[in-house]
Amino acid sequence: MRYLDHAATTPLRPSVVAAMAEAPALANPASTHRAGQRAAALLEEARERIAQALDAHPTEVVLTSGGTESTNLALQGMARVRPGALVVPDGEHHATLDTAEALAAAGREVRWVPISRQASIDHDAFAAALEGAALATSIWVSNEIGTVQDVAALAALARTAGVPMHVDAVQALGHLPVSARSLGLGAAGATTIGLSAHKVGGPVGVGVLLVARDAPIAPIVHGGGQQRGLRSGTQDVLGAHCASIAIAEAVEELASESARLAALRDRVLAVGTAVPGVVATAPSDACAPHVAHLAIEGAEPETIVFTLDRLGFAVSNGSACTAGVQEPSHVLAAMGLGHLAPLRVSLGRTTTSDDVDALCATLPGAIATARAASA
Ligand SMILES: Cc1ncc(COP(=O)(O)O)c(C=O)c1O
Repeated sequence: MRYLDHAATTPLRPSVVAAMAEAPALANPASTHRAGQRAAALLEEARERIAQALDAHPTEVVLTSGGTESTNLALQGMARVRPGALVVPDGEHHATLDTAEALAAAGREVRWVPISRQASIDHDAFAAALEGAALATSIWVSNEIGTVQDVAALAALARTAGVPMHVDAVQALGHLPVSARSLGLGAAGATTIGLSAHKVGGPVGVGVLLVARDAPIAPIVHGGGQQRGLRSGTQDVLGAHCASIAIAEAVEELASESARLAALRDRVLAVGTAVPGVVATAPSDACAPHVAHLAIEGAEPETIVFTLDRLGFAVSNGSACTAGVQEPSHVLAAMGLGHLAPLRVSLGRTTTSDDVDALCATLPGAIATARAASA
């Protein structure tokens, strides 16, 4: 099976597997005995490694259970402190959409901001929605389409309007330079930035929320007061250690990997869009290097994925799947392309040129088969 679904999750890095295998017996880092102190030292080393990779300060690093929890802590935690409207662009990840909808169900006003046919957020509409709002959010790289938002500009708009803003950087990590300082964390821009380790070859179940020191935020999990009181619970030292190794390596490899993956992605897009009735959902220069997203006429979304799966390729539609049933993509619908079938081919560290050659040789025939099966 050729694995081309790296935006869903990507294989563990060998260095992370080795770190897990070599794991020392770890105590609770809050314990005062020497074993606890050793665990606390390893944890702080991990926090520092993460901070350094992301151009942040170690006290800004709050470890969570993943991107979903990071989004929940940011949005719910800031909503606890700031009454008023929440500004949310269309086309966000479900962690954001569903958190916003839960807040709306509890009586919170949500101001939805439209995205264009290219999946870009309308900055004027975003700025207008910020007026008098309590908080705002934006995805950096769309997990479905791969489109990149100018989050630094959006965060600057939010700061100017006096509105705290969360940036979901889960799909940006390892593919674009994620720097807390260049996003203006705590200064001219974002208030919180969310990340997830398993998207860059770290373990599933470890995330990061970078939280500006001036962030108006309250915890959503209460307990022992760990991590500035923002995320109580015994800390996962081994998870943090492994996540820090993966994040640091992904950032180190960024320049060479993003160029390599962009070239592979462009080959997939060229072959896909040569098939009549297939378009690149967004222009590749507006997208992150690891995602090739096609919108296909005349086929059922699941049928394309099943057809390619039978032919030995693990790909995705990109949108959420509930109990094995594909949900229609809210992102394609917001782009006015809801009538087309999405196909997301997402590349990663282990993707080879040979994988892409094999996919390119198979894709036109697979689309024809899927269309015939859907008719
Ligand atoms: C953009 C984006 N945000 C948030 C998440 C959630 O991350 P996690 O799987 O670590 O909960 C994902 C994962 O698919 C994502 O792609």
